This record gives sequence, structure tokens and C-alpha cells, in this order.
Amino acid sequence: MARQSVAASVLAAMLLVVGVFASIPTGVRSIGVCYGVHGDRLPSPAEVVQLYRSNGITGMRLYEPDVNTLLALNGSGIGVIMDVADENVPRLASSPSVAADWVKLNIQRYYPGVAFRYIAVGNEITGSATQNIVPAMKNLNAALSSAGLSGAIKVSTAVRMDVLAASSPPSAGTFRDAYMTQVARLLDSTGAPLLANVYPYFAYTGAPQGAIDVNYALFQPSSTIVHDNGHDYTNLFDAMVDALYVALAKVNILSTVQVVISETGWPSAGSASATVANARTYNQNLVDHVRGGTPRRPGKAIEAYLFAMFNENLKTGAESERHFGLFNPDKSPVYPIKF
Ligand SMILES: *[C@@H]1O[C@H](CO)[C@@H](O)[C@H](O)[C@H]1NC(C)=O
Repeated sequence: MARQSVAASVLAAMLLVVGVFASIPTGVRSIGVCYGVHGDRLPSPAEVVQLYRSNGITGMRLYEPDVNTLLALNGSGIGVIMDVADENVPRLASSPSVAADWVKLNIQRYYPGVAFRYIAVGNEITGSATQNIVPAMKNLNAALSSAGLSGAIKVSTAVRMDVLAASSPPSAGTFRDAYMTQVARLLDSTGAPLLANVYPYFAYTGAPQGAIDVNYALFQPSSTIVHDNGHDYTNLFDAMVDALYVALAKVNILSTVQVVISETGWPSAGSASATVANARTYNQNLVDHVRGGTPRRPGKAIEAYLFAMFNENLKTGAESERHFGLFNPDKSPVYPIKF
């Protein structure tokens, strides 16, 4: 009993020390921006990379390999999430040599001048195509390993929140489908993070009117506090991220998989809650919030990528889809934000 409590307090002290170190701001390494290109009159890749640098944005997500962007990134120090386009995932899943060629062409050719962090095997893949995710990840892992890059660059896949069958309260977090169990186990074995697109905006707008306080979704003071197994949630983002951590722990109680936020954001036009003021509030609060971690991972800075760099007028779907940008195509900011 006594020994246990000594051990517990030593552990608590260690966690405290770890927490203190982890909460020292690690610069802006944890904030990136997604570079979507579905707009006309967008600046050249060289100008885009310059715009990232002049704003102190230190991470970029690219939805598919693009030669000019990768050449512009050479030597920039910007950390990169490189997606495998969804339509290429089946080929990478079925052939180790196709995966090896993909790595040669899109990674090795630019490494180490381009600071690749993760390869995302598809973005929000759904339906029967999900069966290709794990085989493609394994083929890419083998290709990176042969190239001597498996320590530096980690392979994952970018999921949306509905991979969870339940997410509220966070302790209810559970993966919906068996393939996610395989993904989670693979991530644990390689040390790669789970990439998750986490949008309080869609949770808020998808809920019945009045069900969620908009201030809770915007990291603003709110009367909503979710009490969940000793953790208090004062914003929806933390609750969503921790639901993913709970689901990972249900697959493996000792899971050390990190959740990296591969997209998050709030549109500035196109719906009742999509205003410039709300978009600015969400994105600035997000930037300021992520260093502190979540209630289940306090003090552990969250790596997050805002969606997106530009308003993309060629995107289809709801009007708001064309208004997620931080910048206009002429490089002027849609609203001021500090990274
Ligand atoms: C990246 O820059 C370095 C240093 O200038 C250069 O040696 C290398 O060839 C460049 N890589 C590519 C792919 O252009």
C-alpha cells in the first residue's frame, strides 16, 4: 500500500515534470496549414511557399505530390504531410513495387531538402475502398524501410470523425469498423500518428439547432462544460480529439498513438454561423489552444493543420466549402491571424 502510493507520487512527480517540459512552447512547429489547390488564380507554388514562410507557418499538408510545390519547398524547413491521392491507394495496396516507385518519385527525389513528416494514405476514404488502406500502408512502410527512411517519415491515413461509432461524451469513443482496429495496431507498431480531420464546425452545424452552444464550438467562454470520468471539457474540439484517444485505447490499452489534426477550420461565409468573426475566432483560438493539449493529454502540444490556405472557388458542395481559406487568391488575408 505504502509502496504503491510512493510509486504513485513518484509517477505523478515525473508526469508533472514531463508536463512542464511538454508545455514549454515548442515554437510554431505544431501549426500547419493545408494547401488545397481547387481555385483559379491561386499564386504560384513558389509564392505560396513564400507566403507560408512570411507568416511563420511551419507545416503544410499537400493533397497530392506536385513537382513545382515540392521544388519550391526544397530547403524551406516546412514540415510536410504528403497525401497519396485516394485514386492511387488501390494500386499502392496491390503492389509493393508500385509503392516503392511512388516513394522514389515523390519522396526520395526531394528528401532531405523537403522535410516530409507523414505520408497520408488517402483522405477520408469510405466504403469498400477502406480495405486498401492497411495494405497500402504496409507496402509504403516496406518501401520507406528499404530506402532507409522509416525512422524519419511515418505512414498513416487521414480519417474523419465518423470512423467513430460514438464520440460523446469522449469516453464513449469507439471505432465503427474493424479496419480501424488494424490501422490503429499498425500505427502502434510503427510509431506513426493517426491523422484526423476534426471539425467542430460540422459537429455544430450538423446538430439540431440549439443542441450545441456556438461558444463551446469556438473555444469561447460557455455555460457548457462536459464532465466525463474526471475530465472537464470546455470546448468541443478537445472533446472530439479525446474521443479518438479513447477509441485508440479501446483497441490497445497501452496505445501510444498520437492524434495529429490533419484538418480543422471554420468557414468565413456560406452559412449562418460561417462568418468572418467566427472563422477568425475559431482559427486564432485553435492556434493559441493546441499547445496546452487536451484534458486526457494535458500539456502535450497538439500538432494541427488548419484548413485551408486559400478560399477555393472551384470546390463543389455546400457554399461554405469555398470559404475555408485564411487567404484570398491575391494573398491578402481573409482576416488577421497570428501563427
Ligand atoms: C534542393 O536544394 C539543394 C541545395 O540547394 C540542391 O542540392 C538539391 O539538388 C535540391 N533538390 C532538388 C530536388 O532540386
